[in-house]
Amino acid sequence: MSTDTDRIRISPSIIAADLTTFGSFVKALDPSIVDLLHLDVMDGSFVPNLTFGPGYIKQLSSHTDIPLDVHLMIENPDHSIAQYLELSPRIITIHYESTRFPIRLLNLIRNSKIMAGISINPATPVESIADILPYADMVLLMSVDPGFYGQKFLETSITRIKTLAALIRKLNLSGKVDIQVDGGITAENIAEVVKAGARILVAGNAAFRDGAVNDNVSKLKEAAAKGLAG
Ligand code: DX5
Ligand code: ZN
Repeated sequence: MSTDTDRIRISPSIIAADLTTFGSFVKALDPSIVDLLHLDVMDGSFVPNLTFGPGYIKQLSSHTDIPLDVHLMIENPDHSIAQYLELSPRIITIHYESTRFPIRLLNLIRNSKIMAGISINPATPVESIADILPYADMVLLMSVDPGFYGQKFLETSITRIKTLAALIRKLNLSGKVDIQVDGGITAENIAEVVKAGARILVAGNAAFRDGAVNDNVSKLKEAAAKGLAG
C-alpha cells in the first residue's frame, strides 16, 4: 500500500538549463509532472562557481507556479537570508558547513512558513546534524561535492542515506524530516537512492538532457518507483 511517505518528488536543477532563456522555457514544464524547481545559489566562495541570487529568482517566479526549492551554497547565509525569505519559496536549504548558527536560520525559515532544509557535503559526517534535526523539515544530502552539475554520483552516499534514515527514526522524527538527495542522480541509480530512504530527488543533467524535461522527469519517476516496491 502506498502512503504519503512514499511520495516521490523530482526537483530539476535549473543550472543545467540555458539560464538566459529559462523564463520562457519554464512555461513548457508541466506542473503535474515537475514537482519543484531546484535553484542552486552559488557565491563563488562557499563553492568555486557563481550562479544567480534573489533578483533572478524573483523574476523567474513571475513566469511559473511550480514551487521553488532554493539551495543556498553561500558563506554566511545569515547576511542575506531575509532576501530569500521574501520570495516565499516552498523550501530554503542552508549548508551546515556555511554557518555557526544553523538553528537560528532554520527557525527564521520555519517562522516564514517555508520548509527549512539543512544540507551536508559528502565529507561531513551524518551524525554532525543529530542535534539540529528537530529544527529541520528536510535534510539535503549532497551526493557530489557541490559547485557544478553533471558530476558522478558518489557511491558512499547510499550508506549515508541509510544512516540518516536510521537517525531520523531513532529521534522519532519519521514523517517530520524529509530526505533530499542532490548530485549525479540518473534513471539508473534513482531506485537505489529511493530504497535507501530519499523521497525528494534533485536532477540537473538527467532532467534537462535534450531539453525534454517533462519526459525525462516522468522516466525518472517511473524508475524511482521501483525503489519503493518490495
Ligand atoms: C551541485 C548542485 C546540484 C546539481 C545537480 O552543486 O547543488 O543541484 O546542479 O546536477 P546533476 O544532477 O547534474 O548532478
Ligand atoms: Zn543543489
